[in-house]
Amino acid sequence: MKEYETPRELALPEIRQIIANYAQAAQNAVAAGFDGVELHAANGYLPQQFLSDSANHRADEYGGSIANKARFTLEVMRALIAAVGGGKVGIKISPLHPYAGIAFDDPLATYTYLINELNQLDFTFVELMKRSPMFPLLPHYPQGDEIEIFGKLVSHTLVAGTAYTRESGEAELQKGIASLIAYGSLFLANPDLPRRFEQNAALNAPDRPTLFGGGEHGYIDYPFLPA
Ligand SMILES: Cc1cc2nc3c(=O)[nH]c(=O)nc-3n(C[C@H](O)[C@H](O)[C@H](O)COP(=O)(O)O)c2cc1C
Repeated sequence: MKEYETPRELALPEIRQIIANYAQAAQNAVAAGFDGVELHAANGYLPQQFLSDSANHRADEYGGSIANKARFTLEVMRALIAAVGGGKVGIKISPLHPYAGIAFDDPLATYTYLINELNQLDFTFVELMKRSPMFPLLPHYPQGDEIEIFGKLVSHTLVAGTAYTRESGEAELQKGIASLIAYGSLFLANPDLPRRFEQNAALNAPDRPTLFGGGEHGYIDYPFLPA
């Protein structure tokens, strides 16, 4: 395997260009027939690299304070909204998921700021991706339920995600903080998932070895319920 390159700081013109690229990508997606776009600001993707204390060591207006670290995400969101309209824009965040070495000194302070700023913008939904149980909770992170802690701050439609089952998804909706549940691996393994939930039918189990790569096997060949 090739060694990773050491990342370098983006220059300000590059940041402006990348924000313009996000807007262009959103326009392209809508022109191609997508209903909308979701800014991936979770899981160590670029917006979360700007937001985090572990990845962002900048000393300019995009680094240092929480407001500076959140600037990139908020500028991209404004650009997306301007490009395609807030009715076609959402964002995915993962406050406590430490994937890709992402860590915050004070995730509650960072995400309280970010969510409060997002609350001022006119767009459609926030998807809150909870920490995957396969990753440890960092020792200084809050122990409570992420939907309780962060979801309650969100004024947009809230989508909750990560490791939900039919039952835990239903229980989450009953709590009244999240309005929608995002299913990933269960949906991949069950192309007719809504129907199976409706009928309380048995589910195909996701096949872990083929989930994240390889060929079409494990992507297009899970069986449907008999008609
Ligand atoms: C096959 C597969 C590939 C995924 N790829 C990515 C990815 O490239 N980047 C990412 O941030 N999340 C990825 N996810 C996570 C999903 O976006 C989603 O957050 C997650 O699947 C929801 O949790 P669940 O699978 O437990 O329902 C992937 C999930 C699956 C099942």
